[in-house]
Amino acid sequence: QADERESMYLVSEFAAKYFRDTLLRTELGKAIGLSYFKERGFTDETIEKFGLGYCLDEWDAFTSEAIRKGYKLEFLEKTGLSIVKGEKQFDRFKGRVMFPIQSMSGRVLGFGGRILTSDKKAAKYLNSPESSIYHKSKVLYGIYHAKQAIAKEDNCFLVEGYTDVIQFNQAGIENVVSSSGTALTPEQIRLINRLTKNITVLFDSDAAGQRASLRGIDLILEQGMNVKVCAFPDGEDPDSFAKKHSEEDIRLYLKNNSKDFIEYKASLLMEEAQNDPVKKASLIRDMVGSISKIPDHIQQEIYVQETSRIMDISEEVIFSTLAQMAGGAA
Ligand code: CTP
Ligand code: MN
Ligand code: MN
Ligand code: MN
Ligand code: MN
Repeated sequence: QADERESMYLVSEFAAKYFRDTLLRTELGKAIGLSYFKERGFTDETIEKFGLGYCLDEWDAFTSEAIRKGYKLEFLEKTGLSIVKGEKQFDRFKGRVMFPIQSMSGRVLGFGGRILTSDKKAAKYLNSPESSIYHKSKVLYGIYHAKQAIAKEDNCFLVEGYTDVIQFNQAGIENVVSSSGTALTPEQIRLINRLTKNITVLFDSDAAGQRASLRGIDLILEQGMNVKVCAFPDGEDPDSFAKKHSEEDIRLYLKNNSKDFIEYKASLLMEEAQNDPVKKASLIRDMVGSISKIPDHIQQEIYVQETSRIMDISEEVIFSTLAQMAGGAA
């Protein structure tokens, strides 16, 4: 079992190196992959730091090279790098630019591969399948480069995607990780919880991002952590925003626009109907639902007071709603 996993780590390490070499040293890699990353604004230093790569648009260029180098098909298949169909084997990531996913200690666990064409039929990102070395729900993209900065800043920025992490790093902001490709899980939050009690959620400014941040809030509160949310201008994600601003401007924007979860939820209502009692009541219930997730009762009380002030409603009615929820209605 341990041997199998070690073999899977080794073949993943080889793949990362192979994809990197393909990107930097082959004509096709440079013309297609490298120019793609350059267009996204990534510097050579950034490409090196994140070990970015390219998988040639051929059926089995990687797999056959790995086998030539003595790696066993068994482990190529178990890591999902190769797909085996009868006598034939194919490269899973054919024609994609590659983002290696590293553990807290820097080992390569799996990959995300992005398509370069705007082919609507194929998934934009393809990820390594679940395996004995890659448990999606327990991995945070970027954690290897972020861990020191998270502890030092005593805060972690949580973003949606690979390129959000990378663009922030390039801007000089390193305390950033992404749940990449899965909805945020309690295990992922626990990894952050070991380094800081403070998370700032920076999801994309679209409906999906808003939904995901609302879901994330409760999961973070459940672990007794502080959560803030910073929304970006319409249509932006942290990558696109960071690409067009200086580090100083990004930090200023984050500072001025980060809201605690009560303020954030209140701001969502302001956009809709502030004078609609039905909507307002349902929003307050939603806020109280989040407060009920907080394990510490003193912290709960602080947010009850804030809700009362912001929503202009008595603390008594909030407490009684909270008590109803604690009684099992939630
Ligand atoms: N994702 C995925 N599979 C998809 C789409 C998205 O695994 N088909 C994951 C990727 O980790 C991606 C993240 O979800 O980085 C966020 O998705 P999205 O916002 O759609 O992509 P971006 O990261 O903004 O990608 P890009 O800027 O390259 O278009
Ligand atoms: Mn395991
Ligand atoms: Mn998104
Ligand atoms: Mn995005
Ligand atoms: Mn993006």
